[in-house]
Amino acid sequence: MKIKTAEFVVSNSDVAKCPNSRLPEYAFIGRSNVGKSSLINMLTGRKSLAKTSGKPGKTQLINHFLINKNWHLVDLPGYGYAKVSKSSKKVFQKFITQYFSLREQLVTAFVLVDIRHEPQTIDLEFMQWLGENGIPFSIIFTKADKLKPKAIERHIGHYKTILLETWEEMPNYFVTSSTKIIGQEELLGYIDELNGNMELS
Ligand code: GTP
Ligand code: MG
Repeated sequence: MKIKTAEFVVSNSDVAKCPNSRLPEYAFIGRSNVGKSSLINMLTGRKSLAKTSGKPGKTQLINHFLINKNWHLVDLPGYGYAKVSKSSKKVFQKFITQYFSLREQLVTAFVLVDIRHEPQTIDLEFMQWLGENGIPFSIIFTKADKLKPKAIERHIGHYKTILLETWEEMPNYFVTSSTKIIGQEELLGYIDELNGNMELS
């Protein structure tokens, strides 16, 4: 799929105020600093559409981006960032879970995990929560440029082993790098396919 237009629409912390449209949408979620905002920029080929930072906690709101005038990409705040105050952390968690519970336009969630790290409890718990709530998701391994191909294979194999302790099968997954532009075609192709299933023009 070719990205012809990519526009910022709105930021907010209230799911009820998200765009009142029936367009299909896709949300990026994962720990702070995993590369959610960078991936949105990589996918759309727009360097600073979503705000990124080397410091965790950059994205603090629900951000809607309108792509090709007919679907939305959603950048969300990270979870599991210990440095935000306890009270604001709770607010994040509440509106993140509210977003996923209430947003009927959501076609699928993309849970981002850093390919370099051991499976993290918070990510596994979030996937579990999505599963229990019937919300479809794919895993996106980020920062693949940081590992050699053999190590990528090994890390994914290990992730599979851990997931298969609780899941019947390995969820759909993608390997990406925003700096080296890896996984762009695969991800956009997948979204295109899902959009097609929703009979978009
Ligand atoms: P929050 O908004 O804080 O939740 O973070 P985020 O998940 O949106 O992460 P963001 O895209 O802001 O990126 C965090 C850091 O990781 C930045 O310093 C990025 O440059 C870096 N980064 C993101 N993607 C990649 C990647 O594919 N490869 C490498 N090497 N660095 C990346
Ligand atoms: Mg961000």
